[in-house]
Amino acid sequence: MVEPLPVGRFQLQQKRVKLKRWVAAFISSHRTLFVVLWIVAFCSVFLWQRKSVARAGLSLSGKTWSGRPVPKMRAFAFNLTDFGGVGDGVTVNTAAFETAVSAISKLGKSGGGQLNVPPGKWLTAPFNLTSHMTLFLAEDAEILGIQDENQWPLMPPLPSYGHGREHHGPRYGSLIHGRNLKDVVITGHNGTINGQGQSWWKKYQQKLLDHTRGPLVQIMWSGDIVIANITLRDSPFWTFHPYDCKNVTVRNVTILAPIHGAPNTDGIDPDSCEDVVIEDCYISVGDDAIAIKSGWDQYGIAYGRPSRNILIRNLIVRSMVSAGISIGSEMSGGVSDVTVENLLVWSSRRAVRIKTAAGRGGYIRQITYRNLTFDNVRVGIVMKTDYNEHPDNDFDLKALPIVKDISFTGVYGQGVRVPVRIHGSEDIPIRNVTFRDISVGLTYKKKHIFQCGFVQGRVIGTIFPAPCENLDLYNEEGQLVKRSIAQNITDVDYDI
Ligand SMILES: *[C@@H]1O[C@H](CO)[C@@H](O)[C@H](O)[C@H]1NC(C)=O
Ligand SMILES: *[C@@H]1O[C@H](CO)[C@@H](O)[C@H](O)[C@H]1NC(C)=O
Ligand SMILES: *[C@@H]1O[C@H](CO)[C@@H](O)[C@H](O)[C@H]1NC(C)=O
Ligand SMILES: *[C@@H]1O[C@H](CO)[C@@H](O)[C@H](O)[C@H]1NC(C)=O
Ligand SMILES: *[C@@H]1O[C@H](CO)[C@@H](O)[C@H](O)[C@H]1NC(C)=O
Ligand SMILES: *[C@@H]1O[C@H](CO)[C@@H](O)[C@H](O)[C@H]1NC(C)=O
Ligand SMILES: *[C@@H]1O[C@H](CO)[C@@H](O)[C@H](O)[C@H]1NC(C)=O
Ligand SMILES: *[C@@H]1O[C@H](CO)[C@@H](O)[C@H](O)[C@H]1NC(C)=O
Ligand SMILES: *[C@@H]1O[C@H](CO)[C@@H](O)[C@H](O)[C@H]1NC(C)=O
Repeated sequence: MVEPLPVGRFQLQQKRVKLKRWVAAFISSHRTLFVVLWIVAFCSVFLWQRKSVARAGLSLSGKTWSGRPVPKMRAFAFNLTDFGGVGDGVTVNTAAFETAVSAISKLGKSGGGQLNVPPGKWLTAPFNLTSHMTLFLAEDAEILGIQDENQWPLMPPLPSYGHGREHHGPRYGSLIHGRNLKDVVITGHNGTINGQGQSWWKKYQQKLLDHTRGPLVQIMWSGDIVIANITLRDSPFWTFHPYDCKNVTVRNVTILAPIHGAPNTDGIDPDSCEDVVIEDCYISVGDDAIAIKSGWDQYGIAYGRPSRNILIRNLIVRSMVSAGISIGSEMSGGVSDVTVENLLVWSSRRAVRIKTAAGRGGYIRQITYRNLTFDNVRVGIVMKTDYNEHPDNDFDLKALPIVKDISFTGVYGQGVRVPVRIHGSEDIPIRNVTFRDISVGLTYKKKHIFQCGFVQGRVIGTIFPAPCENLDLYNEEGQLVKRSIAQNITDVDYDI
């Protein structure tokens, strides 16, 4: 037991000798590296001192060093004030934004440009973005949309809608607009884009507008779009509307509008878009938090661009007027391969909804919901096939949408009145719906709260509350326990 010690000590000495030799060899062979490191260190200290002096100078001249340093994300970075911007909440900055964007549009081949919006309130009329551009909103920077609608340009209707959503003819453009772009980032230290929608909502309700209201941010026919780390609020209409885009990411964004009296202020409306990720967001608005769309009746069928491959996860959403996550009702180009997971819907009218109508055509299929929590929600899961809002009378009643291959795994929560309401019809039956691991706390303990009509599918394992009789029952092992009596029974009661 004592003997191993000297051996160990010897080995330790040997190791030390080896280490010394190795360090000497390392230093001599990396002399240049050390010289470079030394110069870098010296320069850093020098620059740091200069910065401190600059800081002292700033505070001496009465200004304070405000906020976090802005990261440089492009080869070239500009400050909105370089283009004459004034952030006093009164001066109109449209020309400053347009000149900045025009400068950045010339830098595409050299890595693009970043436009920094410093703290302040930057009133502006609508302006366009350009490719290879980063719009960076500092902490306490707020872009304010001008409320005078005469300052908002008109644009032709979206081809897949045929008309403006609210009025025939042209529609207002968006506050921040882009089309045929590539590689656009809107980010910041939680700065805000504020549409000041109050005047629009009021005029809409008083029927004083002749054209469809404009979204807050609309990007069309574009790819590689990122919106992150900012707040979007009080949009006149839908908040973020990516239209016929590919590769769109929305991450860590807060979207706000009043939960009442802010009509059509959807949070995010992916419309004929492919490869979309929406994650880590908080959305509380006056309409759907998210609504996946793909065009309206005959116009959407003719345009023929689906929304597909969409991942929505880690969201907290609230909608007192409509639903947390919707698909439709405009879905005439088709919607498929949508996954919604780790979703909390709180104090809302509906949690997740699929809505369509005869005349839409198209399809809704391969929709996967996982780990949904409903907290104080009136109706949890809703499917509705008679959402009869049409662009005009020329829609084809025989264009029947296909609704199928929809699964729910893990639905929890409390304070839910009607956990499920699936209302298919003879013309538009809902096929192949699967429920697994459902346990929802109820506020209204009566029968007929798992409501169905013209739906085919199954429940697997134990489900609370007890499912409707339209569905087949399977045990956890996947064996059929009880086949449904009939799939066309209708037990839907909108009065509960
Ligand atoms: C932009 O310019 C303003 C005024 O000159 C200054 O206060 C602010 O710190 C600048 N911001 C950035 C990000 O450069
Ligand atoms: C912004 O884009 C729209 C649509 O392409 C265009 O009509 C408008 O002229 C553009 N505005 C500016 C200032 O470039
Ligand atoms: C989300 O954005 C905020 C505000 O910009 C930032 O402080 C925070 O680090 C971001 N969180 C993540 C996970 O990116
Ligand atoms: C960003 O600002 C919004 C609105 O002021 C706020 O609700 C949210 O919590 C902020 N997000 C972060 C990550 O600080
Ligand atoms: C999607 O866009 C991001 C951000 O611009 C980019 O980094 C990524 O490479 C794009 N993905 C594909 C598959 O093009
Ligand atoms: C968002 O903020 C996080 C945390 O600060 C940062 O890692 C990420 O790069 C930011 N995203 C963008 C697009 O600026
Ligand atoms: C389920 O979603 C909730 C948020 O609603 C999250 O906190 C939880 O971690 C998720 N569970 C799993 C297993 O991912
Ligand atoms: C039913 O839908 C699931 C997805 O929820 C899909 O994997 C399965 O293939 C579908 N079954 C049939 C018979 O189409
Ligand atoms: C349901 O289907 C059965 C058998 O196919 C049929 O007899 C019955 O009329 C149908 N009921 C309705 C409401 O369509």
